Amino acid sequence: MRQIDIFDTTLRDGEQSPGVALSPEEKLQIARQLAKLGVNVIEAGFPIASPGDFQAVKRIADEVRQVSICALARANTKDIERAWEAIAKGEDPRIHTFIATSPIHMQYKLQKSPEQVLEQAVAAVKLSKSKVSNIEFSAEDASRSDADFLGRVFSAVIEAGATVLNIPDTVGYATPEEFAAFIKAIMERTKGVEKVKLSVHCHNDLGLAVANSLAAAQIGVHQLEGAINGIGERAGNAAVEELAMAIKTRRDQFQLETTINSKEISRTSKLVSRLTGMIVQPNKAIVGKNAFSHESGIHQDGVLKERSTYEIMSPDSIGADMDTIVLGKHSGRHAVRERLTELGLEIDESRLDEVFKEFKLLAERKKEVTTDDLFTLVDSQTNNG
Ligand code: KIV
Ligand code: ZN
Repeated sequence: MRQIDIFDTTLRDGEQSPGVALSPEEKLQIARQLAKLGVNVIEAGFPIASPGDFQAVKRIADEVRQVSICALARANTKDIERAWEAIAKGEDPRIHTFIATSPIHMQYKLQKSPEQVLEQAVAAVKLSKSKVSNIEFSAEDASRSDADFLGRVFSAVIEAGATVLNIPDTVGYATPEEFAAFIKAIMERTKGVEKVKLSVHCHNDLGLAVANSLAAAQIGVHQLEGAINGIGERAGNAAVEELAMAIKTRRDQFQLETTINSKEISRTSKLVSRLTGMIVQPNKAIVGKNAFSHESGIHQDGVLKERSTYEIMSPDSIGADMDTIVLGKHSGRHAVRERLTELGLEIDESRLDEVFKEFKLLAERKKEVTTDDLFTLVDSQTNNG
């Protein structure tokens, strides 16, 4: 089994979600929970962005241990100096510097030639190297960049001292097979690639962030970047909990493992959702309210006989404590009887027939039949009977 690192950017790219603004105190709380979750790197923020961002990154670097602390900086002196000031006292501090390499970004956004971009990338990495050994370089919009040019940029930044090379799919444009082939092409064109870690950072504009990340994992990249609950710019980043649980659940297929303590996933997801105000959609993989719920009678019957019929993971494995059988209009007699037994309401078969008839009528009107409803149904049967 090969270990793959998880780089969490909930506090940087995740906080770039429209409408999200976390206080330094809230960021510290999330960073502490991320350390418990077992991520390898926390990207704590973008210190040049605002005094609040700087404060938050600094507090995290000063106070959170046992996980590498990273700060983002554009490829210029001011950003890099500020990033370093914020993380200097952190555990295994990492400067993450980036510049765009795609023709579209170089021409319209940076208004620089490829040679100028290459020079700026090298200068940024050299400056970072004068401060710290752990340096990540990202080629923004890599997936829409030319592989030959990326090979030249990556070879040059390795020589300048970069230790992690990140290949972002900044606009979520890639598809899994094409992305994996593109990464291989870059690797073939990069001198010294064997000396560094390769990373991917996938956005979810086409709903492919996790699939693209896993395709990259399968061809040997060393680090996957993502955010809790998949939050981030536009449609968000690869969801850390999905990456971790895909790798854990399909361990034999991937031959990979992470250091994530999956039992902390539910708690981390809830904390991030509460503090960011970003509600998790009910059917969201792994952490959605319905991710482990069974509603139809056929599924409930199967699960009650043997959980693995319809469950590939247990709620317990992500630290969630929930009723997986949701009683509603699709539920069958078996599920109702089981729930009544759990509640200590043992009734004979003929009364169960009556209760079940009433249950079906109630379930037509209500989306979910609760424990209280069941008590009421049994009571009214007792009083009528
Ligand atoms: O999406 C992106 O390209 C980024 C970089 C700064 C890594 O967030
Ligand atoms: Zn991003």
